[in-house]
Amino acid sequence: MEIVILPGPEDVAREAARRVAGVVRRRPGAVLGLATGSSPLGLYAELARQVADGALDVTGVSGFALDEYVGIPLEHPQSYASVIRRTVTEPLGLDPRRVHVPDGRAPDLAAAADAYERAIRAAGGIDLQILGIGANGHLGFNEPTSSLASRTRVKTLAPRTRADNARFFAGSEEVPLHCLTQGLGTILEARELLLVAQGEAKADAVAAAVEGPLAAICPASVLQLHPRAAMVLDEAAACRL
Ligand code: GLP
Repeated sequence: MEIVILPGPEDVAREAARRVAGVVRRRPGAVLGLATGSSPLGLYAELARQVADGALDVTGVSGFALDEYVGIPLEHPQSYASVIRRTVTEPLGLDPRRVHVPDGRAPDLAAAADAYERAIRAAGGIDLQILGIGANGHLGFNEPTSSLASRTRVKTLAPRTRADNARFFAGSEEVPLHCLTQGLGTILEARELLLVAQGEAKADAVAAAVEGPLAAICPASVLQLHPRAAMVLDEAAACRL
């Protein structure tokens, strides 16, 4: 795994954007895997700036979100469909028809999960999967003990994740209990993985993922299995390496 340690979050955003832009330039119809959460926001803002400056052409780029809450309305500001639209699709000017989010409102969630896997395959697979990391080492919503071979499916959110994400909702009881998430096996099929992390709150999870054993207790340790995985970290996130 390639580990890049940079002074601060702005440097992480710039370096990660440089890598994403490189993939988009090499492959104009690139398929990007999109993470939500606060970690990739600087990266998305930097990409949007490059698009606005005319330095990056994202015509033809597609996106697949990693995950979605189950049971919150599509128009809820914290549904990942809304978050991806607000932070990626609109600022980058992507064609909304090319940006996909798992359907957390489907009456048959297992069928929606299978359909999402089929849609990724039909798009030719994901060229570059952008990832954050949960403080408990989760990837997407693959909580600790998720199978390393898992596919897109329904998961129950860990209490710590619900507590971490309560800041986006009116209170912790408002955070949904379930989600649909790409599995670790799905994520590993992306041709390239790019994980960004900033801040000391992520330092233990980053250290476990990089230097700990490959183990389901730290889902992000699956990056150790991927031949083209990079972590771009600020010094605070890297302080326990
Ligand atoms: C969220 C998302 C993940 C994200 C992680 C970290 O719950 N489902 O995809 O990477 O938790 O979030 P943040 O970047 O806000 O710390």
